[in-house]
Amino acid sequence: MPADDEDMETRLSAGECIDPPSSFRQQANLSDEAVYEEFAADWPDAWARAGDRLDWDTEYDRVLGGDRPPFRWFEGGRLNACYNCLDRHLDAGRKNKVALKWEGRLGESRSYTYLELYREVNQFAAALRDLGVEEGDVVTLYMPMIPELPVAMLACARIGAPHLVVFAGFAADALAMRMDSAGSEYLVTCDGYYRRGTPVHQKNKADNARIELDHDVDATVVVDRLGDETPLDDDEYGYRDLLAAHRGTEVDPVHRDASDPLFLIYTSGTTGEPTGVRHTTGGYLAHVTWTSHAVLDIKSEDTYWCSADIGWITGHSYIVYGPLALGTTTMLYEGAPDHPEKDRVWELIERNAVDVFYTAPTAIRTFMKWGEQYPEQHDLSSLRLLGTVGEPINPRAWKWYYEHIGGEECPVVDTWWQTETGGMIVSTLPGVDEMKPGSAGRPLPGIGATVVDADGTRVDPGEAGYLVLTDPWPGMPLSMAENEGWFVDREPTRPVLDRFDWAYFSEDGAAVDEDGYITLLGRVDDVINVSGHRFGTMEIESAITDVEGVAEAAVVSAPHDLKGQSVLAYVCLAEGYDEEPLRDTIQDAVGTAIGPIAVPDAVVFTPDLPKTRSGKIMRRLLSSVARGEELGDMSALRNPEIVGELETAFDGNN
Ligand code: WT7
Repeated sequence: MPADDEDMETRLSAGECIDPPSSFRQQANLSDEAVYEEFAADWPDAWARAGDRLDWDTEYDRVLGGDRPPFRWFEGGRLNACYNCLDRHLDAGRKNKVALKWEGRLGESRSYTYLELYREVNQFAAALRDLGVEEGDVVTLYMPMIPELPVAMLACARIGAPHLVVFAGFAADALAMRMDSAGSEYLVTCDGYYRRGTPVHQKNKADNARIELDHDVDATVVVDRLGDETPLDDDEYGYRDLLAAHRGTEVDPVHRDASDPLFLIYTSGTTGEPTGVRHTTGGYLAHVTWTSHAVLDIKSEDTYWCSADIGWITGHSYIVYGPLALGTTTMLYEGAPDHPEKDRVWELIERNAVDVFYTAPTAIRTFMKWGEQYPEQHDLSSLRLLGTVGEPINPRAWKWYYEHIGGEECPVVDTWWQTETGGMIVSTLPGVDEMKPGSAGRPLPGIGATVVDADGTRVDPGEAGYLVLTDPWPGMPLSMAENEGWFVDREPTRPVLDRFDWAYFSEDGAAVDEDGYITLLGRVDDVINVSGHRFGTMEIESAITDVEGVAEAAVVSAPHDLKGQSVLAYVCLAEGYDEEPLRDTIQDAVGTAIGPIAVPDAVVFTPDLPKTRSGKIMRRLLSSVARGEELGDMSALRNPEIVGELETAFDGNN
């Protein structure tokens, strides 16, 4: 969430409205407001507009099957996601168009045309098959932003093997937990890569994960990124050797049922362990392709850049699947935004003549801090549309982006969605709607979303409540389509029952204005959003309490100017342990168990944690102390004397 409360006030007050430039409207993929009405009048069948952007091996019988879970989007349809992202473009005259443009960390760059990408994907698909991968087997991909990652994803999709991408920055423990949970017996990784000048030995982390696993790994493929000639065991294979062994091989795409899983991805919730989300082949692909067209306004002639990491859902949906399904050029950037200089991002946009740029508020706030002299050094006139995702964007950052990057000529889309939704849910349509800085917009056409109170009653405009999705949407994950306890029995207890007897609670607070625009107010559960990345407080706490000498720990978020939120840990030590050596140990432990981005910015040692009479840690109090806020009602507290000690401990730390 944006750092200052004033921002929240401005975001909630009836802010200014900005019309999209008419030059944009004239060329927009969608420019007729009637699209909202068309979806409403003909729901769910209007979603055929999304389904029909795909090529189906077997046409679907119905747009939506089931009037209660299990929901089957594009029921009866069979298709292959890799075919939709590659094969069909070869015949459409795009074989020599660049599909993937990679900009590496060391200044190198590499381009793959659709034909080249098709060939490499086919060879790797043949190699995976040769290693024993069969339809339905889960293949784990543990790689940084190198072209081999999307190649491996598409190769998996081609043979109907769901991929599980694990963010390269995650630690061995986090990789092992995910592979175990998914029962994945195949791993594709790389020798290592450079992170801020220092080599990260990815293969070592992967080896450590394999030791921890409860099951065997049948085969590991290693991409050579560092050129280190890593020695390989019998069940380990070099990526280049495998390609060479399958040169020229083509593999028929395996057609999958629309509801078969395309991939798994893990995300953090309130529980101690991240949970796996399975996205479907038909509904998901239709959703991300449609929103890439309708919201990101992508055209096949474009060069498009989303600066997210493929390790998160944003990269899956809007670097790989959506853009490639539309036949555009999608850029993959491995490096840092300030290397070699702080103008790197703008230099890349100028040199590649990027048309559409999609990034996160945390990045925009960082660019703002560096100053407009960096974008000013470059010609950014190729840009047509700007997007943001991952956390609320404060109006000041929104306007800076609009003025200094878009030159007031590019609409800005603030897209709200989640790992669970697969694709965008709330946003303006850039060729249709006016923009309100700080507010994401209305639910997209065909999407049922509203804000309710704890009883599930719709709240009045301007009042804060919970964002719920009241209709199924094509990108919904399998667990939700099948209703594994996601619906009515969850808080809020009685959601608005618009069309079906369930709703999905997003765990986000929100408010709606008179025009139906939704302003997001941040998570209401125990999830911390660091630079647009989700971590559960329990996940981090369990890494901390594993440290010898730690008696108890509670993790909360603190506002942070650039990252949105930072992680703050309150720790009680066991008798006889000293604080100072343990501070580093605790930070290292989180880095090792989860990864560097989850490491607490501050560790505050306290003799006790504030607890209610029933023994629950009062997190509200801990975050109020961190924010220097009024502490509010503390009558439920069993140990009120702790408040003064907490404040002293916190001040001593900051
Ligand atoms: C959480 C989902 C969607 C891909 C990136 C994150 C927050 C996301 C916005 C936005 C306000 C946003 C929400 C949401 N969020 N986009 N435009 N405005 N908040 O995916 O890791 O699943 O996180 O990110 O809190 O619940 P994720």
